[in-house]
Amino acid sequence: MKKKNTGNPEKERYSRIAPFFDLMEFLPEKLTMVRWRKELFSYLKPGQTLELGVGTGKNLPYYPPETPLVAVDISRRMIDIARKKTLSIPRPAFAVMNAEELTFLDHSFENVVVTFVFCSVSDPLQGLRELRRVVQPDGQVLFLEHVLPGNPFLKFLFNALNPLVVRIFGANINRRTVQNITRAGFSVEKEMNLGGDIVKLIVARP
Ligand SMILES: C[S@@+](CC[C@H](N)C(=O)[O-])C[C@H]1O[C@@H](n2cnc3c(N)ncnc32)[C@H](O)[C@@H]1O
Repeated sequence: MKKKNTGNPEKERYSRIAPFFDLMEFLPEKLTMVRWRKELFSYLKPGQTLELGVGTGKNLPYYPPETPLVAVDISRRMIDIARKKTLSIPRPAFAVMNAEELTFLDHSFENVVVTFVFCSVSDPLQGLRELRRVVQPDGQVLFLEHVLPGNPFLKFLFNALNPLVVRIFGANINRRTVQNITRAGFSVEKEMNLGGDIVKLIVARP
């Protein structure tokens, strides 16, 4: 029987690629992403922490063991893979949740960690507003995101290739995430170029 369409394109796409996700990203992970994740986690503060879009759990080894952590993702298949990896490290509380409709109370978290997620959230502004709602007034959101480059030729290329990339990988390569973060009401405390001006580490405060 054909599976019912739930109306969440990112959920469908990521559930489909979940079993191959680590393999697909094996090389970029080893060559660059490991370094970027280490850099991101140097900004983590002690306290209640949410990871949005935990995927297959690639960030989990970087949390200090005492971190009180809740990890959510729109795809249950992604969470099932992440859960299997946490047998030997402190277990986060996992939940299936859409960034656009978080079920947490206002101001619940000291840190929110988000890596390579806002390239695929259908309504990024709504997802970012939800993060601003759930983070504490003196808390922070730590992002690693790839964004639309500033170079006009690359901009054209990324916009042209975007529909194909979305279809294959589920991710948009033409998002203006720094601008969206500001539009959602955050102040950007740090914006660091990690991979040209395409991959950025962003520290944002509500
Ligand atoms: C490119 S993967 C990144 C996974 C992980 N953060 C990492 O760095 O490896 C994007 C993840 O975001 C999740 N995601 C996409 N849209 C989402 C949404 N609206 N709400 C919650 N999770 C979402 C996907 O299911 C997927 O696991």
